[in-house]
Amino acid sequence: MKIRRAKPEDAKEISNLRINTIKSFPQDNSKEEMEYVINRNTPKSIIEKIKTREIFNMFEKGKIIGNIGLHETRLTNFYVDKNRLKQGIGKKLLEFIEDYAKKKGIIKLHLRSTPSAISFYKKFGYKITKIEKKMQNGIKMTHTIMEKKL
Ligand SMILES: CC(C)(COP(=O)(O)OP(=O)(O)OC[C@H]1O[C@@H](n2cnc3c(N)ncnc32)[C@H](O)[C@@H]1OP(=O)(O)O)[C@@H](O)C(=O)NCCC(=O)NCCS
Repeated sequence: MKIRRAKPEDAKEISNLRINTIKSFPQDNSKEEMEYVINRNTPKSIIEKIKTREIFNMFEKGKIIGNIGLHETRLTNFYVDKNRLKQGIGKKLLEFIEDYAKKKGIIKLHLRSTPSAISFYKKFGYKITKIEKKMQNGIKMTHTIMEKKL
């Protein structure tokens, strides 16, 4: 398994992986949120994110099986292929990005967790610091903010 920086030509594959994974966690989003999140993960919007964030893919036999990103001090864009969940890929990607952030001199990482990932992050030392409820594009969203000192 290899991890390398995402390129614009990876956008379609990343988009398919993310949308399939998002649909596998229906408990994380209401119908409106699901639609909103899917729309934010089209190949076009991923190309924009690749330009402004540091996004990395994990590859196996040339196929993307997970991705994770860093936007300033925020861990973001973290998804594992729906057919490869609970096989240690998320742990590897998380360890990779923490190590990468540490090397950049970042001392604290923060993130917005989906409801289903809260216990995953807790397992790796992240703590809830805030529950944010806000309207985003006319949709009521709840974000669980978590952070970890590296
Ligand atoms: C969260 C996510 C990235 C975890 O990836 P994964 O590859 O399934 O996780 P791993 O297999 O590496 O799991 C590592 C450990 O965490 C545990 N774990 C995995 N998902 C968990 C969850 N949702 N709740 C509690 N523990 C979890 C595993 O059992 C494993 O424990 P072990 O080391 O004792 O065996 C994945 O579930 C995902 O893509 N979710 C949908 C998108 C998402 O919510 N991303 C985070 C957005 S902020």
